[in-house]
Amino acid sequence: MGKVTKSFVALLLISSLLLAPYLSISEATDNSVPIVSGLSWTFYKTSCPKLESIIRTQLKKVFDNDIGQAAGLLRLHFHDCFVQGCDGSVLLDGSASGPGEQQAPPNLSLRAKAFEIINDLRNRVEKACGRVVSCSDIVALAARDSVHLSGGPDYGIPLGRRDGLTFATVNATLQNLPPPFANATTILSMLATKNFDPTDVVALSGGHTIGISHCTSFITRFYPTQDPTMDKTFANNLKVICPTVNSTNTTVMDIRSPNKFDNKYYVDLMNRQGLFTSDQDLYTDSRTRGIVTSFAINETLFFEKFVVSMIKMGQLSVLTGNNGEIRANCSVRNADNKSYLASVVEELPVEEAWSDL
Ligand code: HEM
Repeated sequence: MGKVTKSFVALLLISSLLLAPYLSISEATDNSVPIVSGLSWTFYKTSCPKLESIIRTQLKKVFDNDIGQAAGLLRLHFHDCFVQGCDGSVLLDGSASGPGEQQAPPNLSLRAKAFEIINDLRNRVEKACGRVVSCSDIVALAARDSVHLSGGPDYGIPLGRRDGLTFATVNATLQNLPPPFANATTILSMLATKNFDPTDVVALSGGHTIGISHCTSFITRFYPTQDPTMDKTFANNLKVICPTVNSTNTTVMDIRSPNKFDNKYYVDLMNRQGLFTSDQDLYTDSRTRGIVTSFAINETLFFEKFVVSMIKMGQLSVLTGNNGEIRANCSVRNADNKSYLASVVEELPVEEAWSDL
């Protein structure tokens, strides 16, 4: 064995010994995540057996054309689940009563196309199975496929979520979605309120291995003063992309492999090339640094932990059973959906429909 190879193996061994108390690969299987009551791995087995293949086949086509959409769909699921639970509330268009969830600042940069893709998937699923699958389940499946079709792990997710009847306020949205300028202490405590431990936090942040960000999300790291933790060349390149404080440009979040779901995001962090403070501080903070390193050197471990944390995230405050509804249009709750109401009335015998008026 050459000298270089020997020292690399030694480094791996030392790292795994040091990290052993934190992480164990074998504990991270789908089965190790408790499933909330009302959800099931086989929920649509008889009512919509083709559900998962309809979604995957269509998303393959979408991503062949534009792989960036995978990032948009993954982020959509995160924003859905963190605010009021995974109830599809982020999909609901605002009402005349005032600004709601979609108008909250963090949601303004969700991709318009992501909402269109979800509505299109919903229509395809309804054609095959009738109105049995919720929009929130479609969002969860689309996020899972986005991860896998960009090179990440494939995994099963428990299904049976129902769609919420209301969207969240701007304030509730802001309180639940951490900002990119937050440090690790803030991120850890915000996510702890949702029962995520430091390993979950570091694993979920790995979602930033794909996708893009607007300059406004990280501009304060170099104007007016340069964040000293940021690699100098990286900072200079970003300044070219974002020449002024109100630049509307975008840049990739993982400079090593922006469209591939892999562990390079953690390698970026170790090289001080994380885009947001909330990313970079995971390497600066002693509570999360070892976890970042372990994911940077072991992609399999990252994938296993990511799957566990995603399944956990996908079950936050879900509605099940008779709660909520199955929306006929993901952007509108059924009570406000004129075409849905008309179709319900058409299905009733004439006398019954009149007696309801
Ligand atoms: C932990 C706290 C998090 C913070 C502070 C955060 C913040 C952000 C911000 C500011 C952006 C860019 C928005 C823009 O300027 O366009 C972004 C993008 C993104 N985030 Fe996060 N995020 C977090 C967690 C997550 C999680 C848990 C996931 C998924 C597992 C995720 C997935 C994504 C993806 C895929 C994008 C790119 C979206 C696109 O290209 O359209 N983020 N995030």
